[in-house]
Amino acid sequence: MQVIVAKDYDELSRWAAEAVAAQILEKPDSVLGLATGGTPLGMYRELKRMHQEGKLDLARVKTFNLDEYIGLPADHPESYHHYMQENFFRHVNLPADQAHVPDGTAGDLAVECQRYEEMIQAAGSIDLQVLGIGANGHIGFNEPGTEFGAVTHVLSLDPRTIKANARFFGSEDQVPRQAISMGIKTIMKSRKIILLASGTDKAEAIMRTVTGPVTVDMPASILQLHPNVTLLVDKAAAAFLKLDGGQMSVNC
Ligand code: GLP
Repeated sequence: MQVIVAKDYDELSRWAAEAVAAQILEKPDSVLGLATGGTPLGMYRELKRMHQEGKLDLARVKTFNLDEYIGLPADHPESYHHYMQENFFRHVNLPADQAHVPDGTAGDLAVECQRYEEMIQAAGSIDLQVLGIGANGHIGFNEPGTEFGAVTHVLSLDPRTIKANARFFGSEDQVPRQAISMGIKTIMKSRKIILLASGTDKAEAIMRTVTGPVTVDMPASILQLHPNVTLLVDKAAAAFLKLDGGQMSVNC
């Protein structure tokens, strides 16, 4: 696991966008795993800029988002479908039928989970997965306690996540209680992973991800067992790490 510390959120966002762009340059038909939340917004802004400057071609790329709230239709302003459309998809040349987000309104959610997982595997699984992290260590919506062997599944949001995401909905009452998420096993099959974290709220989760025991109580700690993970964090999120010149390599 490699940890790289950016001086601030803008630098972090630029580095994340450069990592995605480099992946696409190297393999124009890359399969990308994408994240939502506040943290990757700067990365999507940078990617949009690169595309507008003619430096990024997504015509052959396929994308799979990590998760979606259950019960929110695609046009709901807080659905992850809507987030992706507004913040990324509609600004770039990614063909609509190559961009995938789980359907949180599916009649049969178990069938939807299976369909989504099979689509990812049929695409050859993910080349580069972009992750955020919850303050409680969740990745995707895999909350503390989620078994590491899970593939795409339905889960209940942790009270801490409901509280954190209330800022997008106006109040805690309006935050959906359940979501569909890629499982930890799905995420771990990705060939390369970058995890982005910004702000002091994430400092403890980052420290436990990097140096703590691998435990379901801190879902992101499983990343210690993946062969190709880079944590891109800003100084605030790195506050509890002992760093050597802004970089740290941990042999797990
Ligand atoms: C959300 C998403 C995660 C995201 C995390 C952190 O609930 N399901 O994919 O990484 O929480 O979000 P933020 O970047 O807004 O702190």
